[in-house]
Amino acid sequence: MQLLDGKLLSDEILSELKTEVDNIRQKNGKIPHLAAVLVGEDGASITYVNSKVKNCEKVGFKSSLIKKDATITEEELLEIIQKLNQDTDIDGFIVQLPLPKHISEKVITDAISPDKDVDGFHPFNVGKLALGLDTYVSATPNGVMEMLKRYKIQTEGKNCVVLGRSNIVGSPMSMLMSKSSRSEVISKNGYSADATVTVCHSKTKNLQEITSKADILIVAIGQQEFVTADMVKEGAIVVDVGLHRLIDETKKSGYRLVGDVKFDEVAPKTSYITPVPGGVGLMTICSLLMNTLKASKNK
Ligand code: GUN
Repeated sequence: MQLLDGKLLSDEILSELKTEVDNIRQKNGKIPHLAAVLVGEDGASITYVNSKVKNCEKVGFKSSLIKKDATITEEELLEIIQKLNQDTDIDGFIVQLPLPKHISEKVITDAISPDKDVDGFHPFNVGKLALGLDTYVSATPNGVMEMLKRYKIQTEGKNCVVLGRSNIVGSPMSMLMSKSSRSEVISKNGYSADATVTVCHSKTKNLQEITSKADILIVAIGQQEFVTADMVKEGAIVVDVGLHRLIDETKKSGYRLVGDVKFDEVAPKTSYITPVPGGVGLMTICSLLMNTLKASKNK
């Protein structure tokens, strides 16, 4: 068993991005600028957004954090988005999800200009991905593709099972893995794809029968330690997208982090597996920064 080490790769990618920004600065070029909008006080969202801003600083990007109370109206948030769409210094921006119940995430996502949509959530960008065109790909699936690429994992003709069909992870993940290596989104990024993909979800029957045939199992089901050893084929590659906090009095922090996979019992059966933490999560932030650099270059 070998770890797919997100920390190692993200350090490598952040260092590459920093070198690129240093080159841009030397040539008096435009420094990439990411803005993030955070609404309300959701603990996980605050942690994610702070980490995005911190990593912008690490690589030398400009960043702007716009914090608003949970009482903001949809109209007021739309006005902020219009300003960000028009701001020529901002290359890309994100509105952290989830939003308070009185604001429609669809209305907000649709209002973001597709060429500044570095989250890759706008229907225009999702549509481009469906057609195999190069676009801003949602950060988590893009991070997984980058991870498989950098570990030189061959995916062609492999049975890939994706657990989960969310718009942010499962669905774009399954699209990417099933694309032809000749499609723009795969070839331009040097990814390996061409897998035979099965998507499983809450209504899937015989789940264990399907997952245990997977050469590559990508788990984004949002349930802690859901995948157990009996669900995994000997020698499989397992990618765990989940992240959950479990109360643990023995830890100084009072909690420990686990994924959607029961790591201790699954890991010995695998050829490669992502740890949690230290796996996919770190790649996600790198993807967002790579999309922001791309947005800056596209201008
Ligand atoms: N909430 C959870 N993941 C994400 C993400 O990748 N982008 C945004 N905007 N919100 C999220």
